[in-house]
Amino acid sequence: MTSQNNQTTRRLLITGATGGMGRACALLAAAEGYDLVLADLSAEKLETVAAQCARHGVAAECHVLDVVQADSITSLVGALATGRGVDAIIHTVGLSPQMAGWEKIIDVDLIGTINFLEAARPQLAAGGCAVCIASMSSYLVPPSSDIEQAMADATTPGLLERLKAMPGPGKLLEHPGMAYAHAKKALRNYVEDGAQAWGSEGKRLVSISPGLIDTEMGRLENDAMDNFEAMKSRVALGRLGRPEEIATTALFLLSADAAYITGCDILVDGGFVGTVNREQRQRADA
Ligand SMILES: NC(=O)c1ccc[n+]([C@@H]2O[C@H](COP(=O)([O-])OP(=O)(O)OC[C@H]3O[C@@H](n4cnc5c(N)ncnc54)[C@H](O)[C@@H]3O)[C@@H](O)[C@H]2O)c1
Repeated sequence: MTSQNNQTTRRLLITGATGGMGRACALLAAAEGYDLVLADLSAEKLETVAAQCARHGVAAECHVLDVVQADSITSLVGALATGRGVDAIIHTVGLSPQMAGWEKIIDVDLIGTINFLEAARPQLAAGGCAVCIASMSSYLVPPSSDIEQAMADATTPGLLERLKAMPGPGKLLEHPGMAYAHAKKALRNYVEDGAQAWGSEGKRLVSISPGLIDTEMGRLENDAMDNFEAMKSRVALGRLGRPEEIATTALFLLSADAAYITGCDILVDGGFVGTVNREQRQRADA
């Protein structure tokens, strides 16, 4: 796999850079010679990741970022604007069902995420690509056109209030797992819906849907499942994914080798969703 990195050094912004996948992306990108801008909640943790990148000779620039604080996004985007912008973005920020209540999950995984991507978009150079991280849970959640329609309007203030006012769907979303899966489905819809506008600027927009990945977040979720072994048995490859496997996919998507890929989701789940679909077809045939 090659990165588009042979002439000038490409500048890559990674958010959630101290998390399991974000850090794996940072280390792989540093090894490939990208110039890095790292963003996450904790300045201290960012310095640790930057020190690890420095071993590859990369002096990463670090920024504290909280995607649910508008002034925090503005400050990062302002710093990019005074520099030379970026050539690529990997946005890994997210909260999983065990980490927060349903409103916070939607706030971070959907509203903050889209606000961030739209704010950063003008600083992404033409020819550039943004990759964001959805989830395989978005393929498994029962569809709800009411929720999808409401979530399509995520950047208009008041989404949480609008969702709460929808009696049936609003109640459903109070379950953090449902809120998470629907937020990630809405993120995939945003990628599909936005690709044309991004494309008219010469920019690509893609999501990755990881399956069961062995990060701190992944372990927290797996430990909370009473049916974890049954879940794991649906992974065609019979093992958890590694954050490095998400990083190689993300770096591929940023590269010239992926120049015709946009407006879609790449499922990196070891075959989990395929197994669930097969089981459903078998049940329907029975
Ligand atoms: N690990 C899995 O099994 C799995 C599966 C499917 C999808 N995902 C998704 O992949 C992405 C990365 O997951 P991970 O396993 O690396 O998780 P992680 O918890 O290790 O990393 C997430 C990062 O997001 C940051 N973050 C959280 N809230 C933030 C905010 N308000 N502003 C800025 N940063 C914030 C955290 O500080 C953390 O560094 C997430 O979007 C997650 O939903 C993970």
